[in-house]
Amino acid sequence: MSGSNSGVTVTLTMDGMERTARLPLIPGTIGPSVADIRKMYGELGIFTFDPGYGGTAACDSKITYIDGDEGVLLHRGYPIEELAEHSTFLEVAYLLLNGDLPNAAENEEFHEGVTRHTMLHEQLRSFFNGFRRDAHPMAVLCGVVGAMSAFYHDSLDINDENHRRISAFRLIAKLPTIAAWAYKYSIGQPFIYPRNDLGYAENFLHMLNAVPAEPYHVNPILARAMDRILILHADHEQNASTSTVRLAGSTGANPFACIAAGIASLWGPAHGGANEAVLKMLAEIGHVSHIPDFIEKVKDKHSSVRLMGFGHRVYKNYDPRAKIMQRTCHEVLGELGIKGDPLLDLAAELEKIALHDEYFVSRKLYPNVDFYSGIILKAMGIPTSMFTALFAVARTVGWISQWKEMIEDPAQRIGRPRQVYTGSPRRGFVPIEARG
Ligand code: CMC
Repeated sequence: MSGSNSGVTVTLTMDGMERTARLPLIPGTIGPSVADIRKMYGELGIFTFDPGYGGTAACDSKITYIDGDEGVLLHRGYPIEELAEHSTFLEVAYLLLNGDLPNAAENEEFHEGVTRHTMLHEQLRSFFNGFRRDAHPMAVLCGVVGAMSAFYHDSLDINDENHRRISAFRLIAKLPTIAAWAYKYSIGQPFIYPRNDLGYAENFLHMLNAVPAEPYHVNPILARAMDRILILHADHEQNASTSTVRLAGSTGANPFACIAAGIASLWGPAHGGANEAVLKMLAEIGHVSHIPDFIEKVKDKHSSVRLMGFGHRVYKNYDPRAKIMQRTCHEVLGELGIKGDPLLDLAAELEKIALHDEYFVSRKLYPNVDFYSGIILKAMGIPTSMFTALFAVARTVGWISQWKEMIEDPAQRIGRPRQVYTGSPRRGFVPIEARG
């Protein structure tokens, strides 16, 4: 659609000049309207400047809505709290991809579609051997997902609806297998093949933890917690990695290449790498008595230290995912009988201090989803290096839904931001002998 006009306009006049532009206002279903600046350059000869895109809508989307001031997150209109409580990850995947929750028959068909694609092409298995044994699972994920473009030629035509559907199934189904194998490779254990009689989260835990030498039973409470963690990470509108996927996809690149780009973008500690960074930070602090010194470092303008797991570009009140995650954290710790873990005590104390400290309060910095997810995953025995890979497994659903929405929009164009040039003005070439 790309912007149906509300009939209302914003008028922009350049100081001291006669030139005025009328910018149409595009309303959202809920949330603020946006000024359509597409004709502004033509009318005024100026661009907008918005590094970090904090005030720019790069697309219109029907998938996810966030109200950062009120701490609201809706997927296709459904509050995240209700989905996390009553739904399953695959149901949420269907919802994000197709727009509505599935009925029983659609649900069964979708499950079957995903489970039919959980195995990897056997030749893709040898691809893993090319990595160093100590490779980070995210490095393996970037490489292997990118390599899927070379293995699944039969679903690369982005203009064919059926190809798009099969690629989506393949990505959602194979990401847990790739992530689990990346981990198994790093610890020198045999790869565990997927089991289609298990649920999505259950199968993932099975591939991560089982060994061929003995039976492995997945704890249903931990499987439910994993499913909920996947739901909470499934989509989050136009964050850095999703925007990366859209930008890559806008060129017509195939979906596997686009998702590999999203994985690379997710890896950074300011985004998906934060859950791993939280645990590293807690280990570095080491003891409750060191918290005041650490907080001083965080507040010091000259240090680059940040309180990982705190703050969010959009949420300035609280992160609704963090609340659910905090509850899940208590459930998991209760189930596992974990009491008095020094790292968890440290996390609780850090949270308490930060929530009352003027620096954090005045900047509206609250715990985000990653503050608790790292703690839960650690308690579940998931190795720290796998935290971001797990986030990638969940977010693949959001990425592919957003990619599909973009490709199916007839008004879609290549993403191509502009810039304000601040380099040297035009100058003549100077021969090397004449340079100072
Ligand atoms: N610790 C200390 N100070 C912070 C933090 C933090 N975690 N986050 C923001 N600030 C300060 C920042 O220094 C700045 O202060 P001042 O106004 O004095 O210069 C102010 O708060 C505004 O920060 P910003 O960098 O302009 O905020 P942003 O919207 O660009 O950054 C963020 C958002 C998430 C990158 C940032 O809060 C951060 O680095 N948090 C830690 C990393 C993290 O937990 N990331 C996970 C985000 S949720 C999951 C996901 O998106 O993947």
